[in-house]
Amino acid sequence: MNCADRLVAIFGSQAEVARQFRLDRAVVNNWVKSGYVPARWAMEVEQATGGQIAAVEVLNEATTRKPLRMKSRPDGGSLFESLTGIDTMNEFAPAKRISSFHPPQRTLLGPGPSEITPRVMAAMSLPAIGYLDPIFVGMMEELKGLLRYTFQTKNPLTFPISGPGSVGMEFCFVNMVAPGDKVIVCRNGVFGGRMIENVERAGGVPIVVEDAWGEPIDPQKLEDALKKNPDVRLVSFVHAETSTGVQSDAKTLIDIAHRHDALTIMDAVTSLAGTPVLVDEWHADAVYSASQKCLSCTPGLSPVTISERVVESVKLRKDKIHSWFMDMNLLLGYWGETTRTYHHTAPTNSLYALHEALVILKEEGIENSWARHMRNHLALKAGLEAMGLKFLVKEGAGLPQMNAVLIPETVQAREAEVRKTLLNEFNLEIGAGLGPLAGKIWRIGLMGYSCKPENVMLCLSALGSVLSDMGLPVHVGEAEGAAHNAYAALHAKAAQAKKKKAA
Ligand SMILES: Cc1ncc(COP(=O)(O)O)c(C=O)c1O
Repeated sequence: MNCADRLVAIFGSQAEVARQFRLDRAVVNNWVKSGYVPARWAMEVEQATGGQIAAVEVLNEATTRKPLRMKSRPDGGSLFESLTGIDTMNEFAPAKRISSFHPPQRTLLGPGPSEITPRVMAAMSLPAIGYLDPIFVGMMEELKGLLRYTFQTKNPLTFPISGPGSVGMEFCFVNMVAPGDKVIVCRNGVFGGRMIENVERAGGVPIVVEDAWGEPIDPQKLEDALKKNPDVRLVSFVHAETSTGVQSDAKTLIDIAHRHDALTIMDAVTSLAGTPVLVDEWHADAVYSASQKCLSCTPGLSPVTISERVVESVKLRKDKIHSWFMDMNLLLGYWGETTRTYHHTAPTNSLYALHEALVILKEEGIENSWARHMRNHLALKAGLEAMGLKFLVKEGAGLPQMNAVLIPETVQAREAEVRKTLLNEFNLEIGAGLGPLAGKIWRIGLMGYSCKPENVMLCLSALGSVLSDMGLPVHVGEAEGAAHNAYAALHAKAAQAKKKKAA
């Protein structure tokens, strides 16, 4: 029996272990799940158990503990081994024996990917069928319908691109930007910068509307830029900037662009299913997202939705689209309404996974998904603030699913150590800051399946204990208490609202 299980046996339950160590239950649950107690608890374990578990046992177990690696086949187990017993591997074989890969079970609270929902993982392992098999084609139609629900649109051209979010981004730009086109790009973080790259590579001329990292895009600046450049026909912006945790007012930005007769490209990679993305209500023209954030699906798919206005304008282009793979007119042959002709080999099992992720979302209800992200964010925020931490983004502009937390000055030089300890001792991943925010913020994501109360509690307990070890005045239990109070207040409010509605 490992030390985690022995502790539970000695104290009778995980809850009691948590009480003894003044930890949240989620932390103890994580010890049991990962099969060991982190080395830093060695002395406390010995004390609390009156020596029944010696500190050295905890230390030994924790230091020898490595991600589980199983051999795909026992050494010398092959039926077809050469008679001489000498390994017949050829000169190109890797020098060391490589076994099957078994990643550890992590809690993913970074800026994405999020944890994959178990039902989605199961769907991915179903038998492969051909991408033109009538059964598969039927599934594709359902997938398009489910994506329309997710994007809140009736756009016929709504489908997943085979490739990560960056491919969805490139798909929009390469189809909508012709050489020489002037394009306004609103930049307030990393991903606005990538849009500029895309405009340039498509032969366009970017006009950059700049805002500070951590600030939402200023609609007035967009208005001014459009007035100054009346020949601009395309505006692009990131709805949810993952690098800073800020959300911009998409509806207002789209309205401004339309008043100046410009179409829009909106990046909804981090927003989709975490906060409202109302494509039809906002009259958004081209929107792309990604499968690995609030949809909790495997990375590598980019759902897009394209208005009929954009489809018509791309059809009218006289020049050849500069990418064969991403040419919208060619892709329509596979994903369009009537035809199903070979374009590329679709990633069938990943598409089963997306289908399942969207079925789960539909079962939950998209409004409930948005509400869940907000609820857990508010609890996390209450806990982090009780710990004395502050947020980068001002109240009201922050994303519930991507929390940019300012690192206390005294810890900034050692911030990588904090993330490393969280990963090694708590199996918990949080993200670092990027660009000018590197070393200044942590990015704590609460996305999709990862967005749940036990993860909020684990994050608060784990971060709190690491910061306390580093000398910060963090009092064990305070952050967790604040989060519990926030949940209780939210539940009471929801119950009241339900009662009022029923009356
Ligand atoms: C806002 C935003 N846009 C685009 C991307 C690129 O997506 P991917 O990494 O799936 O290519 C990301 C990735 O994190 C993102 O957060």
